[in-house]
Amino acid sequence: MRHVFSPSAAGTLTADLLVVFVPVGTAASALAELDDAAYFAGGLAKHATEEEFTGKAGQTLSVPGMGRVAARRVLALGVGAGTDADVALAAGAAGNDARKRGAKSVALSFRGVSTPTLRSALEAFAEGNYRFDKYKAEASKKAPVEQVTLLGVDDARAVALAEASIAGQSLARDLVNEQPAECYPQSLAKVAEDLANDRITVTVLDEVAIKAKGMGGIYGVGQGSDRPPRFVHARYEPKGPAKAHVALIGKGVTFDSGGLSLKPNDGMLTMRCDMAGAAAVIGTLKALAAIQPNVRVDVIFGAVENMPSGNSYKLGDILKMYNGKTVEVHNTDAEGRLVLADCLTYASQLKPDAVIDLATLTGAAVIALGDWYSAVYTRSDELNTQLQTAASDAHEGIWRMPLPDLYKDKLKAEWGDLKNVGGRAGGSITAALFLSEFVTVDKWCHVDIAGPAFMDSPLMHYVAGGTGTMVRTLTRWIERLGE
Ligand code: BES
Ligand code: MN
Ligand code: ZN
Repeated sequence: MRHVFSPSAAGTLTADLLVVFVPVGTAASALAELDDAAYFAGGLAKHATEEEFTGKAGQTLSVPGMGRVAARRVLALGVGAGTDADVALAAGAAGNDARKRGAKSVALSFRGVSTPTLRSALEAFAEGNYRFDKYKAEASKKAPVEQVTLLGVDDARAVALAEASIAGQSLARDLVNEQPAECYPQSLAKVAEDLANDRITVTVLDEVAIKAKGMGGIYGVGQGSDRPPRFVHARYEPKGPAKAHVALIGKGVTFDSGGLSLKPNDGMLTMRCDMAGAAAVIGTLKALAAIQPNVRVDVIFGAVENMPSGNSYKLGDILKMYNGKTVEVHNTDAEGRLVLADCLTYASQLKPDAVIDLATLTGAAVIALGDWYSAVYTRSDELNTQLQTAASDAHEGIWRMPLPDLYKDKLKAEWGDLKNVGGRAGGSITAALFLSEFVTVDKWCHVDIAGPAFMDSPLMHYVAGGTGTMVRTLTRWIERLGE
């Protein structure tokens, strides 16, 4: 998707789809340029009145490009009061509409929007335009938009930032949507390796090195699969002096069958999404590579397949983790926390200013917050505030949850230092408490993305499947740390 600016009048623009954003109560004036006698011959305002289109948020008016209007179709979208969120909502709907029609060229007509608003709008448009149709017959595919022409704005910075986050988020979505036969630990590590450049170095440990290093969590979960595990550490080093140093960790379970604690069919069906945390931190790295903030960023993930086999880790096994603690396995389906734990120890050793981990960790988070909100756990009010701001600007949902020491008893084990499950009640909280046992930095935040990472059915601008959630939030968070 290419973005170009054009000073042309909307009516003269040749495009498959022309989108006009209309603030409430301004339909006639917003459409006036098009409604000029030379283009729509005055019929557009009349049509808008007839259809009761006033520009209220969420309203749409779709008409063929009649008269001398060069676009094949015109879509007027209400943006209500014209807030950032209103414009993004409309732009997402436009992206969706464009894909449904197979529009290759789209013109977006804005009127004096700010850099953050334009950026969010372009991101939302791309989000709505996204499909994963790799495995569909050619004949049934609708083309994605190739060119977006921007009218009424001239803001190269907003476009560059949007293009960076779109590239990162789309990569994350593709990785999540890919079938597990094609997305496995080695292939996921390769995606990170391919991002290496003069600012990004990537180190990958194979199963032998993982075992030798004592990463018993990653090794234990991975040992039941014919696809051996990988540990990945990518570092982005800024050109100038770093104003901050952060570590991003992702859960990279490329398929979660549950292991010997095998999941039932329906629960297993979408478990290719269990590497969405890793996909999101890889996507964020891709975005940052383009934006080049003055922040040192360590991206870390354990890539494993959780499978039942003659070599699987077993209930009652006691794993020796990378930080030396021992964990009694009570359920092999609580594997994510074991993989993350070793990554958290490794990240802590790098002594960054802050560590954030992203994981499709618990079904309990989905039960608590549904598909839109990720559960945020942190003891740092400052980090929480920074993330809430970034998420709100990125139009992603996060919600802070409690992290009370009071529940730590639930993780007490008979023979090991800890057990890997804390019971059904507060399952997302006890999972977070488990992770906290492996963190030694002050500023740490765990984000349980099990709800938003994958949609079973369409929501907002998302089609079913991977969403790339948190790429836009993390990208904004890190950009600001570098300012
Ligand atoms: N990957 C799952 C969590 C999950 C569930 C992600 C639904 C996305 C959608 C995780 O590994 C898991 O199986 N968690 C168990 C933990 C339990 C055994 C303590 C769960 O949530 O049931
Ligand atoms: Mn599991
Ligand atoms: Zn899992």
